Amino acid sequence: MLLSLVTVFLWLGMGQAQRTTPDFIMEYFQRQLQQLEGRLIKCEQDVQHFSRRMYDMSKEIHGETSKMNALKSEVKSHIDIFAMRLDRVERDVEYLHNNIPDTVQVDIEDSLIEHQVKEAKLKKTSVIPKGKDCSSEVVGIKSLKIVKKAGDANGSWMKDPTKGSAKIYFFSGTRNSTVLAYTSLKTFTEPNSTKKTEVFRLPFPWHGTGHVVYNGFVYYHSADTNNEILKVHLSNRTVADRLLLPGAGRMPAYSLNPHTLLDLAVDEMGLWSIHADPDFGGNLVITKLDHSSLAVEHTWDTNCNSRDAEAAFIICGTLYVVYNSHYGGRSSIQCLFDIHDTIYTESISVLFFPKRYTSHSALRFHPKDKQLYAWDDGYQTIYKLEIKKI
Ligand SMILES: *[C@@H]1O[C@H](CO)[C@@H](O)[C@H](O)[C@H]1NC(C)=O
Ligand SMILES: *[C@@H]1O[C@H](CO)[C@@H](O)[C@H](O)[C@H]1NC(C)=O
Ligand SMILES: *[C@@H]1O[C@H](CO)[C@@H](O)[C@H](O)[C@H]1NC(C)=O
Ligand SMILES: *[C@@H]1O[C@H](CO)[C@@H](O)[C@H](O)[C@H]1NC(C)=O
Repeated sequence: MLLSLVTVFLWLGMGQAQRTTPDFIMEYFQRQLQQLEGRLIKCEQDVQHFSRRMYDMSKEIHGETSKMNALKSEVKSHIDIFAMRLDRVERDVEYLHNNIPDTVQVDIEDSLIEHQVKEAKLKKTSVIPKGKDCSSEVVGIKSLKIVKKAGDANGSWMKDPTKGSAKIYFFSGTRNSTVLAYTSLKTFTEPNSTKKTEVFRLPFPWHGTGHVVYNGFVYYHSADTNNEILKVHLSNRTVADRLLLPGAGRMPAYSLNPHTLLDLAVDEMGLWSIHADPDFGGNLVITKLDHSSLAVEHTWDTNCNSRDAEAAFIICGTLYVVYNSHYGGRSSIQCLFDIHDTIYTESISVLFFPKRYTSHSALRFHPKDKQLYAWDDGYQTIYKLEIKKI
């Protein structure tokens, strides 16, 4: 362009002398300008075309991404709905567990109140078994460890909490007289543990899964009796004492474990027994026993029902009842009864066992380990409890 302008001026200079017509120059300018404009227009058109294509493309991309976003949010909402439904089903099941109208309870409400009044009086006058100042509350069930799979679907296993001994006692089945003992949890879990097994034969078979080992003795519900508790010395298998527990043995302690009529427990305070009372709407009754004489120290009627219960344990004089469903679900602690009234039981929220389907036939608390030794459908498992001092 510059070159053509120079040419034009040169030509003009020459034109001074030659006197050429100005029309011709103007024409020339115009043509040049037109060409320039033409090129500009084309350039502009190209740019426009290009930007339109860019625009179209970005629109297309935008459309695709928004389509993808829509898809993503659709999938997400599907997942959310699914999770919500699952949650709801779980909560419904829980709700049903808690709220099925209990006609039995309704019928006996008056007698229940009477009972509670009597109980309140009893509680005040009763001498709470002396012992260490122990008031604590379970606030969580932290973890689970499956240590072995052995024996029947139903049974119980435990350590003797008094001796600081590591010995493991193994009671397979709901009726037998053979107790197996292992020197430690380690030997119990070894694959060829049978070689190191001690075998004890009890003088009478047991009934259910309610036994405990305490201070070198086995305490258990003697088979073929309604309510006889035997205390047998493990070293020579002689019966040291026996007790017919009043009112016990007329119905299963926990409806989900129909074979156990009498459940025994050990806590910081000593030996306890747990049974359900048909005259009390199937609610659980706990009895503090003197472990040396097997005498009844005191009995409490609790507000916890045996229906849909699968097991229970006692910590510092507080009964924790574990509930589940017939088909085996997630076990949860839904009822507690504190003999000292230090735990405000109304405010307690449901405590769930770690996420896994379970069916516990026995739960044995060990006060020093703060662990539950559980028999879960033939799996020997240990739960670690989170305990808060109050
Ligand atoms: C009794 O227990 C022992 C040891 O666990 C077992 O070998 C035996 O089969 C059991 N007997 C019955 C009748 O279940
Ligand atoms: C059993 O345990 C012993 C050690 O106590 C070991 O030497 C042996 O190999 C084990 N046998 C099997 C079959 O695991
Ligand atoms: C059984 O053993 C205990 C403790 O060792 C002892 O006190 C008791 O007398 C023994 N019983 C029999 C009948 O030997
Ligand atoms: C174990 O107990 C459950 C629940 O009570 C029962 O359905 C099952 O038949 C028992 N299994 C054995 C092998 O006794």
